[in-house]
Amino acid sequence: MAFTYFFRDLQTLELAVSHVVPYTAGRSHIRVWDAGCAAGQEAYTLAMLFAENMGNFAFKNLHIHATDIDECDLFGPIINSGVYKEEEVKRMPPKMLDKYFKNTEPGEFRIEENVRNRVLFAKHDLLSFEPIGQGFSMIVCKNVLLHFQPAERVEVVKMFHRSLAPGGYFATEQTQKMPAETAGLFEQVSSEAQVFRKAGGL
Ligand SMILES: C[S@@+](CC[C@H](N)C(=O)[O-])C[C@H]1O[C@@H](n2cnc3c(N)ncnc32)[C@H](O)[C@@H]1O
Repeated sequence: MAFTYFFRDLQTLELAVSHVVPYTAGRSHIRVWDAGCAAGQEAYTLAMLFAENMGNFAFKNLHIHATDIDECDLFGPIINSGVYKEEEVKRMPPKMLDKYFKNTEPGEFRIEENVRNRVLFAKHDLLSFEPIGQGFSMIVCKNVLLHFQPAERVEVVKMFHRSLAPGGYFATEQTQKMPAETAGLFEQVSSEAQVFRKAGGL
């Protein structure tokens, strides 16, 4: 099973969400792509952070497209059910666990329906260099690009650039630097995290 956990890289995700919420204010469709989502912990963390930071009306317009190559067909059923083992949720902030999960069975917790409904899983290979869609307000791709060759990384980041709406945001992990070949396509929004805004109104 891919290594991940709820609230991983929280500083990066919080910073990204703090930019995306005002950027998407008033929109009827807010599209987010979580690329390389593993079993959904990151996509659901994003959904919870958006729930904490936007009103109920805007939250209902949020669609988080969670994708992964999912070679063993394991992630889809977990994400769709929203059920996680106690060991996976016990390090979460207790307030968030109480608010967004229900203890449905001994040792099992299920994400609350309003949050579950915001996340949609699909299998997708980033190395196809074909995006799952266009007009995303934010793309998150963390702890995935490091597995690719440098030239593949450049092509994937270019694909993300094409898929973002004008002024949309791209977030990656702290140790993943923007390739020199694509640096001109984005502006880094803060020196504190690898969060970028699509440059030039394209
Ligand atoms: C370490 S996990 C990262 C999970 C999460 N993004 C995080 O930061 O915690 C890496 C994920 O990338 C996925 N992955 C690897 N190659 C991929 C590809 N070519 N296309 C899509 N996903 C891929 C793996 O299946 C795995 O779930």
